[in-house]
Amino acid sequence: MAREARYDILFEPVRIGPLEARNRFYQTPHCNGMGGVRPNTLAAMRGVKAEGGWAVVNTEHVSIHPTDDLLPEPDLVLWDDDDIPALANMADAIHEHGALAGIQLGNIAYYNANRMTREVPLAPTSRPPDSLDPVQARAMDKADIRTFMGWQKAAARRAVQAGFDIVNVDAKWYSLGFQFLSPKNRRTDEYGGSLANRVRFIREMLEVTREAVGPDIAVTIRMVIDELMGTGGLSVEGEGGEAIGLLAELPDLWDVVAGPFRHDARTSRFAPEAAHEAHVALVKGLTTKPVVGVGRFTSPDTMASQIERGILDMIGSTRPSIADPFLPRKIEAGRIEDIRECIGCNICLSGQHSGTPSRCTQNPTMGEEWRKGWHPERIAAKGSDDTVLVTGAGPAGLECARALGQRGYEVHLAEAGKALGGRVARECRLPGLAEWGRVRDYRLAQIEKLAHVRVYPGSRLDAEDVRELGFGHVVVATGATWRRDGTGRCNIDPIPVEAGAAVLTPDDVMDGAVPGGPAVVFDDDHYYMGGVIAEKLRGDGLAVTLVTPAAEAAAWTHATLEIDHILSRLAALEVEILPYRNLAHIRKDEVALAHLHAEQQESRPAASVVLVTARAPSDALYHALSADPDALATAGIKSVTRIGDCHAPGTIAAAVYAGHRYARELDTAVPTIPFLRERLVLHPSPGPTTRG
Ligand SMILES: Cc1cc2nc3c(=O)[nH]c(=O)nc-3n(C[C@H](O)[C@H](O)[C@H](O)COP(=O)(O)O)c2cc1C
Ligand code: SF4
Repeated sequence: MAREARYDILFEPVRIGPLEARNRFYQTPHCNGMGGVRPNTLAAMRGVKAEGGWAVVNTEHVSIHPTDDLLPEPDLVLWDDDDIPALANMADAIHEHGALAGIQLGNIAYYNANRMTREVPLAPTSRPPDSLDPVQARAMDKADIRTFMGWQKAAARRAVQAGFDIVNVDAKWYSLGFQFLSPKNRRTDEYGGSLANRVRFIREMLEVTREAVGPDIAVTIRMVIDELMGTGGLSVEGEGGEAIGLLAELPDLWDVVAGPFRHDARTSRFAPEAAHEAHVALVKGLTTKPVVGVGRFTSPDTMASQIERGILDMIGSTRPSIADPFLPRKIEAGRIEDIRECIGCNICLSGQHSGTPSRCTQNPTMGEEWRKGWHPERIAAKGSDDTVLVTGAGPAGLECARALGQRGYEVHLAEAGKALGGRVARECRLPGLAEWGRVRDYRLAQIEKLAHVRVYPGSRLDAEDVRELGFGHVVVATGATWRRDGTGRCNIDPIPVEAGAAVLTPDDVMDGAVPGGPAVVFDDDHYYMGGVIAEKLRGDGLAVTLVTPAAEAAAWTHATLEIDHILSRLAALEVEILPYRNLAHIRKDEVALAHLHAEQQESRPAASVVLVTARAPSDALYHALSADPDALATAGIKSVTRIGDCHAPGTIAAAVYAGHRYARELDTAVPTIPFLRERLVLHPSPGPTTRG
């Protein structure tokens, strides 16, 4: 199939200084929890994107000096020549597939506590960093600035040695470049005060970088053009735009972001595709250089429209490139329906934030390219002619059936309900979660193309039915249900409930139950569900109190950068939030609350209570089958395996991964440790272990 003519514009080459990008697809810098400690994992992940058709594949933020240490987030470093090979490894992987390799260099001053290096963080003025670490950055004097420019220059030279084609000057969010540019810069010397002064630091970074790399390498910039904080911050209509004007032709390309980070990478619950357009649209009028912008672009029509209307020259992308590294190639081949669209959940960010390789809800191969040899598009052919019955068409069952089908197995997918998609089909009807339905839609569209995968909705099977059907392998992916007794993290035993009290679960709400008001939502889950249910009930016109044992509602969503958005939305909806409280007792028209850190007892009126605590695996079928191995053998069933929430309730990403993993591993010899590890090789010590 050929691409549609209306997308031709996306495949026009773009000049970036001395280089030509093969098309308009630009993977913006993104951390991944792999960094310098997992260089092979990282190189394979970037290589796959180059293979998938991205014209430019960037690194994440790369530290140029120990004063910029992100650990435990394992980002890349380029501190001396010994750091070159790990980066060269990645540049080679990118080049192997014809893409340009970009590297982002700078210092993200206000992000770091420098926990490993114990260097004092640097900043334009003395201030604590954004993290709550009890440290403070010190104000750089002019000698420090000169020294810093030397580090930048040396790192840029090393980047060229490592084989990079593009050096990207980092002036985003927490970076020193941006901290100098921001109106929050309180310096009084020639690096503070007027915009011309505040832009000086970035100008010098661009100049020394250019000097270091020579004429054959492109020098680009990633800069915040609007802080989205009204009069207190930089705005593109004001100084943000003026700053671009002052630096307009210095870089070979402008990659512009509207910050802060939590705004740049908003989840689909808080921003649709192309949400940055209004801010980015002004940039092309301020420079002749190509402009890159982001917007969680998954629709080729939106992308083409951005180019045609002169908003952008290149389509910047991080999350859509994670969810589908082959997005450009699929558009090019006219395979639009095969695009695995990002759902905007930010699970990818949660990995990086915890110092572990990023995972993706839609793409279970993310981070597994090297250590498990999983390719996002290719999979080994089936290892036998065995047939497989998958029960349950939620995210685990759908992915399992899809990937088994891709391997060539004959698969029957039986779903008890009429609707397919399991939890995603239900959750995507909750406020803000519509895009989560893409987890189902992508898989159903793929399954539809596989004649040997048959889907049977409305087919509830018991153990006897399964044995009678006589498949070679049985996969139980029957999901989980929310617990009705309140047990979870905070309560090992059920919460006492007075007879007649209205106690509901998220399943009831998703099934259409309308609780009476005022309602109390007890959130001992700490992810999205408690807040979403509160939002839904407010939308239904109920007064809502959200009670949580944690310090904040939806506390885990720090990891997905959503917490501020969630708290703002709940505040706007006038949801009362009571942190540090457990539910001591649920009565007919009130709840008794126990403060976790005080002797205080209180109550709240409650006509209904929604318990968002833990989930119970729906594993009855699995246990019924496993209980009788002889009957299984007689039926010719070689294995019964439970996967996803039915095995252990978790994220949608974990369920998709479990389904994919089963499919990959069927009829395959899996080593005891099922992945390669990147380990330190200890050489004999060169000398005494203590110095001085
Ligand atoms: C997991 C993750 C890590 C990121 N790390 C970086 C980074 O190291 N440097 C940077 O400039 N931006 C980083 N970003 C921001 C992205 O480059 C991009 O601006 C943002 O995700 C919005 O684009 P998207 O909607 O295409 O995802 C990161 C984003 C994500 C999701
Ligand atoms: S984890 Fe979620 S937000 Fe991140 S790339 Fe995957 S689908 Fe998109």
